[in-house]
Amino acid sequence: MATPVDVVIMAAGKGTRMKSRLPKVLHRLGGRALLVHVIDCAARLSARQAVVITGHGAAEVESAISREVPPGLGISFARQEPQLGTGHAVQQALPHLADEGITLVLSGDVPLTRVDTLQALLAQCDGQRLALLTLSMADPRGYGRIVRAGKEPTAQVRAILEHKDASEAERAIPEIYSGIMAVPTRLLRGWLARLDNKNAQSEYYLTDIVKFAVADGVVVVAHQITDAAQVAGVNSPVQLAELERVHQLRIATALMEQGVRLADPARLDVRGTLDCAQDVEIDVNCVFSGVVTLGEGVSIGANCMIANASIAAGAVIHPFTHIDGEKLGVKVGPGALVGPFARLRPGADLGAEVHIGNFVEVKNSTLAAGAKANHLAYLGDATVGERVNYGAGSITANYDGANKHRTVIEADVHVGSNCVLVAPVTIGAGGTVGGGSTITKDTAPGALSVARGKQVGIANWQRPQKKKQAP
Ligand code: UD1
Ligand code: MG
Repeated sequence: MATPVDVVIMAAGKGTRMKSRLPKVLHRLGGRALLVHVIDCAARLSARQAVVITGHGAAEVESAISREVPPGLGISFARQEPQLGTGHAVQQALPHLADEGITLVLSGDVPLTRVDTLQALLAQCDGQRLALLTLSMADPRGYGRIVRAGKEPTAQVRAILEHKDASEAERAIPEIYSGIMAVPTRLLRGWLARLDNKNAQSEYYLTDIVKFAVADGVVVVAHQITDAAQVAGVNSPVQLAELERVHQLRIATALMEQGVRLADPARLDVRGTLDCAQDVEIDVNCVFSGVVTLGEGVSIGANCMIANASIAAGAVIHPFTHIDGEKLGVKVGPGALVGPFARLRPGADLGAEVHIGNFVEVKNSTLAAGAKANHLAYLGDATVGERVNYGAGSITANYDGANKHRTVIEADVHVGSNCVLVAPVTIGAGGTVGGGSTITKDTAPGALSVARGKQVGIANWQRPQKKKQAP
């Protein structure tokens, strides 16, 4: 049996450089809070629990995270007030940690660490050693340096020296501590009790445990990686945007490796999960949020926003289409054509081969196979039968100012242009509604229903003349 893992996530810091009212770890990357990425990583490691250390904005962080994180992994919070350093932060988690486990220390503002990297680090720790995640940097300023017993890169690790406490010569060391370590909990507990704050920042440094490990004869291993993005923290909006691009490129690459054809991997944003079948094509500048699934051969035009929707095989979404299913979801049937400039709102459910054209809005409505609304129309709270043709400029008047009502348009109905269907109302199968009609009563199947002023003709009509200006 592998040693159980408890994850401690430090998230008490202020994040002053974000210049934001929102606590730093709640800023979003790929649509999810930074801290949620870290918690998700802990969940994918099959950690026994995650203990989040909160301080600045603690109440806000705790309630946001409790809402956002899916059940499964046990999460608890430990408050650190005031913040006296990273060692002091981990001390707050000790009451939650059992001695036989490994404690994996992560930071709530480092969102892109890969699960396999952490697994390798845990393997190095193996319940007995102190394992540090390190990497070499061209510009290591600000970071803790890995001090080794000799010049060779594999020489025994002796200590971590914080930048502010290091001499000029020590600052030349390119190998830095990433902020991530795996440590046997029973040893951690003893070492944390020995920390002091006699250093340049008067803080309790977690990194001081390295010298205690060396003194106690515990092996310290440095697990080196080369991919700096995995340990990069977010301290400013600039860094947040940089990591967003790294994250998006990872997603784009994974999609392309599955066979998805992206017009430009640098112009795709996935802020949730995007699941694609074979032969999907996505043009530039599309944003996918929530849970979106695209069936085989689906084509998405440029500049579409698609959230919480499932789009069946062969459907084509033309450019500038806005689809947001929110909680109810949106379904687009096989072979449907949507857009350009269409809007599908929650509960839009389009059957096979449905056509929704430009400036058509559909909300909480089902359209059966082959129905078409091609131009400038609104369908809200409507049930639309097969092969219905819904004319340009027609709307369902679904709201009486207090309540919403349904409109039923049965199969093979032809609704002319500029009609108002005042709900609740049913248009009988095969019927026709004359253009410009305001329909307030149910219509009979097969009937032509016209409800508008009769046309009159006044012969030889004299239009008003423009008055002559005085010279
Ligand atoms: C820390 C390491 C340094 C390493 C660097 C990597 C220490 C003493 N130094 O430095 O060796 O190279 O990370 O980024 O550990 N936090 C708390 N409570 C506190 C202080 C910090 O929760 O009292 C949290 C912060 O919110 C942050 C994380 O701990 O998420 C790291 O703190 P930060 O101040 O960024 O550490 P550094 O000084 O950069
Ligand atoms: Mg600091």
